[in-house]
Amino acid sequence: MKIEANNKVKAIGGYAFDELDKIKNELIKKGVDIIDFGIGDPTIPTPEFIRESAKKAIDKHKCSGYPLTLGSAEYIDAICKYTKKRFNVTLTPKTQILSNLGSKESIFNFPLAFLNPGDIVLCPNPGYPPYERGTIFAGGKVHFMNLTKENNFYPDFDKISATVLKKAKIMWINYPNNPTSQIATKDFYKKAVAFCHKNNIILASDEPYSEIYFDEPSISLLEIETEGVVVFNSFSKRSAMTGYRIGWAAGDERIISAFKKLKANIDSGTPNFIQEAAITALSDENHVKIMRKEYREKRDILINAFYKIGFETNIPKATFYLWQRAKNKTGAEFAKQLLKECGILVSPGEIFATSNDGINPGNDYVRVALVPSIEKTKEAAKRIINAKIW
Ligand SMILES: Cc1ncc(COP(=O)(O)O)c(C=O)c1O
Repeated sequence: MKIEANNKVKAIGGYAFDELDKIKNELIKKGVDIIDFGIGDPTIPTPEFIRESAKKAIDKHKCSGYPLTLGSAEYIDAICKYTKKRFNVTLTPKTQILSNLGSKESIFNFPLAFLNPGDIVLCPNPGYPPYERGTIFAGGKVHFMNLTKENNFYPDFDKISATVLKKAKIMWINYPNNPTSQIATKDFYKKAVAFCHKNNIILASDEPYSEIYFDEPSISLLEIETEGVVVFNSFSKRSAMTGYRIGWAAGDERIISAFKKLKANIDSGTPNFIQEAAITALSDENHVKIMRKEYREKRDILINAFYKIGFETNIPKATFYLWQRAKNKTGAEFAKQLLKECGILVSPGEIFATSNDGINPGNDYVRVALVPSIEKTKEAAKRIINAKIW
């Protein structure tokens, strides 16, 4: 019997780190201690009080039962109070907030609720891959909006043609941004809202890094507008809960209602004991403060190292990523050099972007995820400064 994946699955690209992986394995065999700034997954433990809450909640929900698609009344209420306190936005719990299994699931599935065949989704480039993949699997087409240094890592709406706009149904934006670490301004959000309203496009704002900021608290699109808008956020980065798989969507009740109808047919809600752990996580800001302090320290250590070796640096105001420009070579070459000469693993910027409009906007960059410990980050900085090859 022949078993074959469909064309969409077959078209999914292979593992982008093949070459770096080969070098990494050779170095490990030689006994080199590789410091891994590659994948954006926090390596710190989920705070103990959250883990304890999850353990207790398992016993509380002895009969597990299927959770509600929307989320438990307590969870939705906690999100409602949190968004009021954090962003000063008043949401109606039953109609404007929806629980999910982490943002990734919702981002991928979201276009399924709104696209008809051939409709277009506007996606930032570089950008988080599920914006593109979810669109393709929903039968839609992707129109990339390049984020470059020249446009301050914001999409240039004027570049989108009338033909594209006619078919465009959703625009994804993501600030604080992965991988460029750019943050949104109120002006940018206002401009994006006005543009999407004018063109009847749902504005979908992916904000999982909203709590990883270093100066002013990040703003949410919800602070600007809820009509025609949906915001996705999660506990993965805020509370180092990547493995718990929980987040939320909030915004225009018409969008939430259609998406809820779809999701009721895809999954069976977020496990109740995970929702309880998330409610506990929201009750405390101190652990988030400590986390921010640690990311900030690591940011400064590495920025200083890149500055010392004469690289163009920019100091991220948010996220745990450095979008570091390579010097006299491509990001991929720079990543290879960092690995070979310093035993430091970073991601070539090109893997987060697609060639579009004659360029790959990630080509000149590497993304450094500040996830190793402070000690390891100090060691990495020392290796960079001492390499004397730049
Ligand atoms: C931009 C962006 N959006 C969404 C996610 C997914 O987060 P979650 O763990 O909530 O699925 C990530 C994870 O790295 C991300 O970088």
